[in-house]
Amino acid sequence: MRLQGKAALVTGAGSGIGRAIASRFAAEGAAVVVADLEGSGGAATVEQISRAGGRAELAIGDVRSAADAEAMVAAAVEGFGGLHVLCNNAGVGSWGNVTTTAEEEWDRIFDVNVKGIYQVSRFAVPAMLEAGGGSIVNMASISAWKTDRNITAYCASKGAVVTLTKAMAMDHAPEIRVNCLAPGHVRTPMIEGPMEQVPTLEAKLLGDLVVGRFGTTDEIAAAAVFLASDDASFVTGSALVVDGGATAH
Ligand SMILES: NC(=O)c1ccc[n+]([C@@H]2O[C@H](COP(=O)([O-])OP(=O)(O)OC[C@H]3O[C@@H](n4cnc5c(N)ncnc54)[C@H](O)[C@@H]3O)[C@@H](O)[C@H]2O)c1
Repeated sequence: MRLQGKAALVTGAGSGIGRAIASRFAAEGAAVVVADLEGSGGAATVEQISRAGGRAELAIGDVRSAADAEAMVAAAVEGFGGLHVLCNNAGVGSWGNVTTTAEEEWDRIFDVNVKGIYQVSRFAVPAMLEAGGGSIVNMASISAWKTDRNITAYCASKGAVVTLTKAMAMDHAPEIRVNCLAPGHVRTPMIEGPMEQVPTLEAKLLGDLVVGRFGTTDEIAAAAVFLASDDASFVTGSALVVDGGATAH
């Protein structure tokens, strides 16, 4: 119960890695605001947490919107009496290089993956200070370091998340620790869709993974709990790579 008595907000918690993080936070004793653009996925996460005996509330909203971000933070403060842990997990992927990525698509990737963190954090930080401090976990990716062809906007956005994390850690120390997670390939809708469209992609992604298998959402959630909890009390401004060895070569 490493998050006993804490209130947490997880964005993009209606699917994949975000759902696993919200569930794991709740299992560790936190009351969790499950925030997602997509209501039915978020509701399913809330139901999963409630069935397991945890506390969760749904906040449907878009991390790109200031009003929605403010409402997500308010759901924690009003529903659970404060905010101690924020996981900025919501993210979107995109294929293309600088010549084939449309300007609107480039902006969408940066608006969700980078601006979304700014948008939620600017309301969360004052609430966390009010609660006596806390921990922010941003979702980066191994794509910040291990780039590939035709995933340019995504790689650039995740590189920005790593640097944004360091800058936030400087700004808000010592009350708030800010770290990011850099997962390797995990089977979620984000990569299952492309794998269905491109039959060779699954073998290519598996080839990156030294452990010979995809990661699970729970393996990423375990690392998120570590960064969110007092076990990581001396860790800030860092990127924790959880990638089955993908960046070892
Ligand atoms: N799956 C992987 O292999 C992998 C690897 C490295 C990093 N990541 C990162 O992990 C995070 C979660 O990815 P996932 O694989 O679980 O993907 P996913 O597509 O399963 O889940 C993403 C969730 O974010 C929500 N979302 C998207 N845009 C949003 C917005 N504007 N506002 C609020 N919610 C929004 C979606 O509705 C969805 O529920 C992302 O930041 C992704 O970049 C994933």
